[in-house]
Amino acid sequence: MEKKQRENWGSRIGFIMAAAGSAVGLGNIWRFPYLAGENGGSAFILIYLGFVLVIGLSIMISEFAVGRRTELAAVGAYKKINKNWTFAGVLGVLSAFFIMGFYPVVGGWALAYVLKSVTGLLADAAAIGDTFGAFITSSIEPVIWMLIFLAMNIVIVAKGIAGGIEKAGKVLMPTLFVLLILIAARSVTLPGAGAGLDFLFKPDFSVVTGATFLAALGQAFFSLSLGMGCMITYGSYLNKSENLPQNALIVSVLDTGVALLAGIAIFPALFAFGMEPAVGAGLVFVVVPQIFAAMGGIGTLFSAIFFIALTVAALTSSVSLLEVVVAYLIDQRGWERKKSVYTAGGIMTVTGILSSLSMGLMSGFTILGVGIFDFFDILTDKIFLAIGGLLLAVFVGWFMDKQELEDELTNGGTIKFGLFNIWYNLVKYVIPVAIAIVAFAGITSIAQKPLMFFGLGIIAVLAIFSKKL
Ligand code: TRP
Repeated sequence: MEKKQRENWGSRIGFIMAAAGSAVGLGNIWRFPYLAGENGGSAFILIYLGFVLVIGLSIMISEFAVGRRTELAAVGAYKKINKNWTFAGVLGVLSAFFIMGFYPVVGGWALAYVLKSVTGLLADAAAIGDTFGAFITSSIEPVIWMLIFLAMNIVIVAKGIAGGIEKAGKVLMPTLFVLLILIAARSVTLPGAGAGLDFLFKPDFSVVTGATFLAALGQAFFSLSLGMGCMITYGSYLNKSENLPQNALIVSVLDTGVALLAGIAIFPALFAFGMEPAVGAGLVFVVVPQIFAAMGGIGTLFSAIFFIALTVAALTSSVSLLEVVVAYLIDQRGWERKKSVYTAGGIMTVTGILSSLSMGLMSGFTILGVGIFDFFDILTDKIFLAIGGLLLAVFVGWFMDKQELEDELTNGGTIKFGLFNIWYNLVKYVIPVAIAIVAFAGITSIAQKPLMFFGLGIIAVLAIFSKKL
């Protein structure tokens, strides 16, 4: 039988845009600034940058290599190389479901803010914070926006990987970038902005604990779309002639650049407005509209475009999460694409509704001490992704053939990867140990311990029953 040619990215730039599109999302613009704000700013950012450079980049190279080598999505890729490791792929699929348990809620907020921008949100700058609080805690409006956002995902992924995903990103990612630069320029020139720059760039290590390191590590994985097979899946669609380390470097630099830019856009303005850096999840939805409100009429237009671009950035990320699940159902279960998309989408509809309601109506309902939104968020960000990354590093370092890896990363010796040995030793020795230490330190100093142990328990159960997966 002739081997069926795997669907491929339309072009090199198409792949970079898609991978960068997956990486750049709410993680950079919504989550990075508020985590930095909650964790004292600059020291957190430095630790984060260190993790991106030493751990994130190497893991991304590894994921690309595993995906392209096997031409299979996460679960199949692990399974093909070593059956006992199937559970690590399944953990990735579970992570995708969990992230999609809360991500579309925030995507829906972004979408709602497109309309709110042009319907009077900016008219009363002082009320912007209260408006956000009232909006996300209400029972119907945010649920509807979440459903619209999720429906967009379903339509794009049902159409197939190359068509929908590539096109959306090509136009709107650069738009987002330009807008962020504009906002940052405005933000740093506001009177009183200097305190924000100090907050971003003058480290205060007295606020750092084990939990800070775990938050920074989890954020590095989250922002780069690592630790759950997403980049394995995207790599599996990648052409054999592409330079994997170079692509990984480009994606990581773009992603980190956007996160830093978001910080520079937000914190100077925040301090200029006399607000608290640790306001939490509402940060971008409260500070950015205030910057625009202070601009007068043109601000309305900018604000609408900003939230359109944010929505699209969120979409190009969330489709990559949905794609991980769909690719699993197609590759491993032999389902059709449409059936896979609708089934996964159906489950995500339920978790999305529950997550959205957990902000208000169901805020009294908690699992292991946290609401539903936080349950999905904390479990993935603080446990599953980091442990997923650790498993991948051990797998690549100890269960794959070194020569085969070198072959894959140099395209059979036709291109150079001068840092191969450094990369290999990082993945084999340094990264597993580093992640284990950070996870241990983080779990001992974090408030939500029962949840952490629950997460580890899930991973253990998956590992034990791995033969059945
Ligand atoms: N990286 C995306 C963001 O920053 C979110 C995301 C997409 C993701 N795919 C992922 C996170 C895979 C972890 C794993 O918004």
